[in-house]
Amino acid sequence: MKPISSVSPLILVCLFLTEFHVTNARGLIKKACETSLHKGLCLATIKADRDYKGAKLHDLGQIVLKAATSNASALQKEVEQLLKERASTSVESALKDCKENYDDAVSQLEKSKQALEHKRYNDVNTWVTAAMNDADSCEQGLKESADKDSSIAQKTFIFGQLCSNVLAVTNKAAAGATRSV
Ligand SMILES: *[C@@H]1O[C@H](CO)[C@@H](O)[C@H](O)[C@H]1NC(C)=O
Repeated sequence: MKPISSVSPLILVCLFLTEFHVTNARGLIKKACETSLHKGLCLATIKADRDYKGAKLHDLGQIVLKAATSNASALQKEVEQLLKERASTSVESALKDCKENYDDAVSQLEKSKQALEHKRYNDVNTWVTAAMNDADSCEQGLKESADKDSSIAQKTFIFGQLCSNVLAVTNKAAAGATRSV
C-alpha cells in the first residue's frame, strides 16, 4: 500500500474541519458586528482576542465588553494622572468631571459583566448605555474647556465607539437567545 493514499484522506478531513471551523468563526464574527456603527473596530476588537475561536454569539458579547472595560480602566488611570499634572489649570474642572465619568463608566461596565453572565440583556443595555453617556459627557466637557485637542478626548471618542459595539453585539446575542427559547 502506498503510504500517500492512506494518509491523504485523513489530511483532507483535517483540512476540511479546520476550514469549517475558521469559516464558521468568521461568519459568526461578521454576524455579531452586523449592526455595529463601527464595524471595522468591532471586527478588530474580536479578532484581537484569542478566545474568539469556538465562541458563541454570547461569548463574543463578553469579548467586546471585556475590551471596553479594560479601555475604561486604562482611561480612568490616565485621567487621574493628568489631573495631578494639570491641577489648578483651566482644564482642571473638565478633567475632574471626566474622572467622575470614568469612575462611573468602570462600575457600570463591571456590573454589566455580571448581568451578561446571567443573560440579563436589558440590564447590560441600560448600564452600557450609561457608560456611553459618561464618555459623551467627558468628551463634551473637554471640548468646551481649553483642552479640546487633548488625547483624552480622542481616546474617549474611541471608548464611546467600543461601548456602542458592546450594545450592537449583545443585542445580537439577546435576539439569538430569544429566538431559541
Ligand atoms: C482603547 O481601545 C482602542 C481600540 O481598541 C485602543 O486603540 C486604545 O489603545 C485603547 N486605549 C487604552 C487607553 O487602553
